[in-house]
Amino acid sequence: MTHADPFVSSLRPTAVELPESGIVRVMNYGRDREGLIPLWAGEGDMPTPDFISDAAHRSMRAGETFYTHQRGIPELRDAIARYLGRLYERTTDPERIFVTGSGMQAIQIAIQAVAGPGDEVVIPTPAWPNFAAAAEISGARPVCVPFDFGPDGWQLDLDRLLAACGPRTRALFINSPANPTGWTISKDEIDRILAFVRERGIWLIADEVYSRFYYHGDLAPSFQHAVTPDDRALLVNTFSKNWSMTGWRMGWLQAPPEIGQVIENLIQYNTSGVAVFMQRAGITAIEEGEPFVAEQIERARRGRQIACEALAPLNRARFAWPDGSFYLLVGIEGYDDTNRLAERLVDEANIGLAPGTAFGPGGETFLRICYARSAESMSEAMERLTGWIEAN
Ligand SMILES: Cc1ncc(COP(=O)(O)O)c(C=O)c1O
Repeated sequence: MTHADPFVSSLRPTAVELPESGIVRVMNYGRDREGLIPLWAGEGDMPTPDFISDAAHRSMRAGETFYTHQRGIPELRDAIARYLGRLYERTTDPERIFVTGSGMQAIQIAIQAVAGPGDEVVIPTPAWPNFAAAAEISGARPVCVPFDFGPDGWQLDLDRLLAACGPRTRALFINSPANPTGWTISKDEIDRILAFVRERGIWLIADEVYSRFYYHGDLAPSFQHAVTPDDRALLVNTFSKNWSMTGWRMGWLQAPPEIGQVIENLIQYNTSGVAVFMQRAGITAIEEGEPFVAEQIERARRGRQIACEALAPLNRARFAWPDGSFYLLVGIEGYDDTNRLAERLVDEANIGLAPGTAFGPGGETFLRICYARSAESMSEAMERLTGWIEAN
């Protein structure tokens, strides 16, 4: 694609200038390699369990194939509210729940609702690139504040983050546990950020899709415990990660009921809602899926251990044991061009890692490993990676 092409040059510049996802680029490079172990995408190796898929089949066969509620069917909104209530020991009003076509769409709608041309959205980076891209599509400017990487791992300098919020800032975007660093916010940081956004009248967009994947307890510290009905807070979540439903494209947004009509309109004009049979499967996932979620968490915990223990003896590997999510970033001394490095690892080690350049300022010299895989597959992948590092 070139900007000189008459088709391309007649498009909206904001659309043309969106960057290609650096994760997808390397996936396309290595997609068909025989025997490649893919640790590049943000998903594990377990398919959706049958009991969830069966619920979708039953609903489809029962004829639930028509247009439906834009905010989500009431039964699913109730189930999500009960799930959050159980998890965070707090009553959640189903009127705050909006079912969306993925966590990505929850992010997109949250940003569309609050930020447009001339506005800024402040985002700590390295981060999943879709946060900044969603701001850009909306016409807003992402303002990236890099994490620091040091002996204590990834740290967020809150003074620097809050100082980056200026008069044009409409939203502060916090993803914890974080993709790709594994950084996880503390209770004190939550309180400080909330106090700041309250004082400034800024929206908080909190993406907590990895909240169950936390390695120092059962549940990561969460804004769910701290936000009040008066807060300008939009909370993003998804079915993708806990229940291995990445291909389904279903998530939810928690928003103040006062803006319910606006969110409903945005859903209507973006996708017009999520298929009822998928929502039925969502209810089953939530109501019957806890043993499966526990299995997924255990798999990630084990994968994390295998990955970190394999890297620890290597002097040339820079990484920190991640506190949460199912990723870790590793830098390899002497290999700062991680786009090229990711391609070489495909060609020479038959493993797929995501280049850090994909994740914005601060991540360029690292590779992202997704470790939500079976112990056998992770051990084999790490043998290939460490073998390659030792030989090069
Ligand atoms: C931090 C974060 N938020 C949201 C999502 C969106 O997930 P999905 O669109 O599959 O629901 C992802 C996916 O990788 C993610 O890493």
